[in-house]
Amino acid sequence: TTVEWEAESYDMGGHDTYMHKEIFEQADAVDRVLRGRIDDRFSTVHLGGLNLDAREARGVRRIKILGCGTSYHAGQIGAQLIEELARIPADAEPASEFRYRNPVVDPDTLYVAVSQSGETYDVLAAVQELKRKGARVLGVVNVVGSAIAREADGGTYVHAGPEVCVVSTKCFTNTVVAFALLALHLGRIRDLSVADGKRIIDGLRRLPEQISEILAGEDEIKRLAAEYADAKSMMFIGRVRGYPVAREASLKLKEVSYIHAEAYPASELKHGPLALIEPAMPTVAIVPDDDLLEKNRAAMEEIKARSGRILAVAHQAQEKADHTIVVPKNENELDPILMGIPLQLFAYHTALAMGRDIDKPRNLAKSVTVE
Ligand code: G6P
Repeated sequence: TTVEWEAESYDMGGHDTYMHKEIFEQADAVDRVLRGRIDDRFSTVHLGGLNLDAREARGVRRIKILGCGTSYHAGQIGAQLIEELARIPADAEPASEFRYRNPVVDPDTLYVAVSQSGETYDVLAAVQELKRKGARVLGVVNVVGSAIAREADGGTYVHAGPEVCVVSTKCFTNTVVAFALLALHLGRIRDLSVADGKRIIDGLRRLPEQISEILAGEDEIKRLAAEYADAKSMMFIGRVRGYPVAREASLKLKEVSYIHAEAYPASELKHGPLALIEPAMPTVAIVPDDDLLEKNRAAMEEIKARSGRILAVAHQAQEKADHTIVVPKNENELDPILMGIPLQLFAYHTALAMGRDIDKPRNLAKSVTVE
């Protein structure tokens, strides 16, 4: 219940900041979003509150995900998961932009509103506009009974527990896992095989332990944060699955440390941002061990050739990088869930070393309930 949540949220549990506490709650939080939902017999998941039967799910031709800030980034990974596992065209868009461009609302599109608080004005207003036009809207929301959860036709709770720090960490991770569950559910109604369903379920079950493994590397990440803390600005790059991870990591760093950061698809470097590369502008490269590994290596080579420093987040040490944070490998589709986690700690330790107000960064609010 909400009351328990509030009581729990005031207990710092030995952590100095909520951000640190919430980063370290992620293994338990992921365990919670998975609990009771996996159906091993049919290699699928049950999402009780979806209000979308199998026939309706088969009729969905497109999925449009709407959110703001970190939730929008979680939605971008969600869209990729839906395309990969369910083969339904999907994309994410900032709710505020969607609302003001007089979007074409199509009856075969399923709309998904994503929000930690469930109260963000721009997301709520987009939901209301969509419903007024007769669209079906699902919510992927953390706070139970919040405005967006009530307004949506159905949906799924993210079960991250209370998040107090303005900068979202565990809710981001749980939201992406919730999207993986939705994608698996839709996939198994459509063309995802039993074997692939099982493969994803096995991968999901490995996540909590792998998250703990990443967090156990905190000392090393703290050391790396000190190494890069002199940066005036940082570039974050990734490709396809790694790109939204780069975007979210870049947002985390700027929110909490106030260091300027930008995120680019690694493939776009040569179309402009390469001009910025110099030693004072280090790059964080998201380098999963997937079919784009060689392409990512080539991008790192381009950066090195311009004497840029590189911190890679990868599944194996990267020769082209100055430093690599090695994360455990999961299924390719689920790797984005893990690859951002060390960069939450990286942002945290950078901000801590700079003496920032970690839980309440200047000019920001936990939930923006006005336009
Ligand atoms: C604010 C917060 C962000 C958050 C965004 C969306 O800008 O500072 O951390 O991602 O709102 O919030 P929501 O509650 O809708 O996920």
